Amino acid sequence: MTVVTATPQALQRAAELLREGALVAFPTETVYGLGASAFDATAVARIFEVKRRPFLDPLIVHVLDPDMLAAVAGKPPAAAQALIERFWPGPLTLVLPKRPAVPSIVTAGLATVAVRMPQHPVARALLGALGAAIAAPSANTFGRLSPTRASHVASMLGEGVAMILDAGSATLGIESSIVAFEKVPTLLRPGAIAIEEIEAVIGPVRRIGEGASIRAPGQLAHHYAPATPLRLIEPSIVPFPERRRAAVLAFQEEFAGYAATRVLAADGDLRAAAAAFFDALHELDALGLERIDAQPLPERGLGVAMTDRLRRAAAR
Ligand code: TXA
Ligand code: MG
Repeated sequence: MTVVTATPQALQRAAELLREGALVAFPTETVYGLGASAFDATAVARIFEVKRRPFLDPLIVHVLDPDMLAAVAGKPPAAAQALIERFWPGPLTLVLPKRPAVPSIVTAGLATVAVRMPQHPVARALLGALGAAIAAPSANTFGRLSPTRASHVASMLGEGVAMILDAGSATLGIESSIVAFEKVPTLLRPGAIAIEEIEAVIGPVRRIGEGASIRAPGQLAHHYAPATPLRLIEPSIVPFPERRRAAVLAFQEEFAGYAATRVLAADGDLRAAAAAFFDALHELDALGLERIDAQPLPERGLGVAMTDRLRRAAAR
């Protein structure tokens, strides 16, 4: 596996590799993705192998433009169309009717396909160079922390990845929001676009857990987890002896007595906090301490998506 700067030549090579059925990791505005040509069932199978991801867990298909969308999905319902116009290209995934040409391994046999049109210039250049949709989950080992840098991908995924396109740190740092269109629009995964922003376009959206069943493993209780045990706790109530061999992931302020500290956003900006979020967790995890204490974040805007990830990381 080679990590290469995403130059035009590297992008051409990456597209060739995808055409040959190899896997290429690439940056998006949310996190790094592990891509295969979406119409190559064998290549897609290798994604599951390399990630050690269960086949029951469907992938997100990335498209460059409306033509690529039409090749993988049927006509979006009106609410989806309104969200496309407002948020694409961008960090929003829509669950739409699947076209038969999309191999069923991509969608775990579902009649729907999750699609998003990314905004990151390298992701777009790769789609353009391939000229076809790319199936790509986050480029991490299944259940572990999401990768926001090429080095995270390199350390988690081994030789099964032909090339890692490096374009620095992913800008938003948290995965796309996923919306499905059932009797009512349903948020399957809170993510980089706050539910308030989605509701401002299409009206009330059902939150998962409000009577909806589990369909996305991002919805599994234990997911997005560091190797170090993590608990969600207000650090100010943790006794000092318990802090000595632990790290703290704090929102705005420092807490004395911890072996390591990462403050997500001293000014309280939730976007900045999201951009630093997985990076901070990777860093604290690498220290090999006994525990990570994560401070609860405000439950608004991107704080909802981060709190969701922390709850799942804390679940055993
Ligand atoms: O920001 C992102 O979305 C990143 C970048 C790489 O685009 N991708 C990502 O993919 O987070 P992944 O595989 O880690 O998460 C995709 C989620 C999974 O939980 C999967 O179950 C859900 O999308 N999903 C995919 N297809 C679906 C479908 N047809 N119905 C419901 N959920 C689906
Ligand atoms: Mg993932």
